[in-house]
Amino acid sequence: MCGIVGYVGKRDSQNILIEGLKKLEYRGYDSAGVAVFTKDGLQVKKSKGRLANLESKLDEAPLNGSIGIGHTRWATHGKPSDVNSHPHTDNSQKFSVVHNGIIENYVSLKEELIEKGHVFVSETDTEVISHLIASLYEGDIVKAVQQAVKRMTGAFALGVLTEYEPEKLVAVRLASPLIIGVGEGENFIGSDIPAILDYTRNVYILNDGEMAVLTKDGVELMTLEGNFISRELFHVDWDIVTAEKAGFDHFMLKEIYEQPKAYRDTMGARLDPSGTKVVLDEVKMSKEQIGAIRNVHIVACGTAYHAGLVGKSVIEKLARIPVEVDVASEYRYRSPIITPNTLVIVVSQSGETADTLAALREAKRNGARVVAITNVVGSSVAREADDVIVTWAGPEIAVASTKAYTSQLIAFYLFGLYLAQALETQDAAAVAEIVAHLKELPEKVERILEQAEAIKEWAEQVSTHDNLFFIGRGLDFAVAQEGSLKLKEISYIHSEAYAAGELKHGTLALIEEGIPVIALAIQDDLFEKTVSNIKEVKARGAHVFGLHTEGETELAKSVDQVFEIPHTLPLLSPALSVVPLQLLSYYASLARGNDVDKPRNLAKSVTVE
Ligand code: F6R
Repeated sequence: MCGIVGYVGKRDSQNILIEGLKKLEYRGYDSAGVAVFTKDGLQVKKSKGRLANLESKLDEAPLNGSIGIGHTRWATHGKPSDVNSHPHTDNSQKFSVVHNGIIENYVSLKEELIEKGHVFVSETDTEVISHLIASLYEGDIVKAVQQAVKRMTGAFALGVLTEYEPEKLVAVRLASPLIIGVGEGENFIGSDIPAILDYTRNVYILNDGEMAVLTKDGVELMTLEGNFISRELFHVDWDIVTAEKAGFDHFMLKEIYEQPKAYRDTMGARLDPSGTKVVLDEVKMSKEQIGAIRNVHIVACGTAYHAGLVGKSVIEKLARIPVEVDVASEYRYRSPIITPNTLVIVVSQSGETADTLAALREAKRNGARVVAITNVVGSSVAREADDVIVTWAGPEIAVASTKAYTSQLIAFYLFGLYLAQALETQDAAAVAEIVAHLKELPEKVERILEQAEAIKEWAEQVSTHDNLFFIGRGLDFAVAQEGSLKLKEISYIHSEAYAAGELKHGTLALIEEGIPVIALAIQDDLFEKTVSNIKEVKARGAHVFGLHTEGETELAKSVDQVFEIPHTLPLLSPALSVVPLQLLSYYASLARGNDVDKPRNLAKSVTVE
């Protein structure tokens, strides 16, 4: 993520940049910074932490000038710190860059620039861009940016200023969002429309491979090759609150729809282009260390714990290592048997959950190696773990976790394959097959999202009930538990998730006429057994909503309503089957008139035990 803004006009830019960044803080809040062209040249101020820290610095010593760029950071390369904050400059301090995205080949570019005498001060990929542009500058900033972009691979949106051409702001978009705001005698850039909506409602939405040159008097749009583009202005008629949610009614819905991107970003360069292996450079375990692992403990809370339940199956199946999964608040108190040959995996979206952090410390005290799966670079969990697998879901605002959970599943698939490669527990063909299916997941999620209306209808029926059940076997049971938690936390409907075969040992007594049962029958090898359990509840009057895989025709005969998900490998199916359940809880909450994004009694980050 990360958010960028830029201004060129007649007004003082500092406040416009800060107000814009406030609207983009949802895109990251590890640090913030601005560069303004002042009477003393290009001046930069930046600060670790929330935007308020930067504001205090600017209150003490304002930067006055009518052209500037700003950035709010979601750390990717390099921990959150003042020096890693944007904007970044080159050694001459004449060029300044804000960047959203990742430059995949930054290491080789950096080496090349170091050889030419450039000195780097940060750990970021972005600093390379400012040096690269400076090294290519021959009196025309537009040409220098075009040439620099040709050398860079990855995804990026850029805002670039140079002291040599102080009237110009250059913007580039390649696979990271960027819009241009068009005002009168002033123009803007922003990662998202809310950043500029206080000043103008007229925007150009840049497409991938396009750039813009802004002066106070106009905007030129062109391709990265320099061919001019003419485009109609888009008039924004949403209010600011709607705009922050990109047109979605709630952050939760927006985040559900962001999942295909989150899957792609989390897999990213970690899937070797050959399609035959996983590359997890961030995990620094040697083959010997992996070979010495005797058992794995996965520790997490809530939804992250549910991702761990899937993680257990993934690691046991792919790497053949025994795995236990613990709720973090219980872990320390059960005297877990942790040895130096135990690998402990902590899973946390925020990286700040107190119970998870305490479990991590307990594991380390006992000599275990700790791998963290987290969405927040530089979080406490990330800092204290030995190895960190970052999920690139981007900031999650809604309290109910959706894209963070599914990105955690992707991280488990990658890590399971990584272990399997080192231990040689899967042959190359098996790995290649899983990798191929992983790559197809984002598009399959998109297909599920296209059917959201059908789930909305289910949700409207479900929302009139006070109790319901989720049932499934194997991985379907793990997903059922997540579906049940999601429904409880935002719709306030009491629900329970049961292993389908376990109902008859007590819970069946609760099944009565009309009670909704959401039955997951995705796992092929358990399909018939699950159908028998469905018949048990159906015979007692339950109204059964069944989830099955496309092409399967039997389930419809035993349930009241069915919803199809695209076919994938059974091990990967949780990354698909959870999506309709997320939509179900969202629409049920909506139907009940609840505050979807901020459910009662709950907080996004639980930093107390
Ligand atoms: C539920 C939810 C919570 C979190 C849990 C752990 O939707 O979001 O159950 O999963 O509080 O939080 P993190 O992952 O930040 O450690």
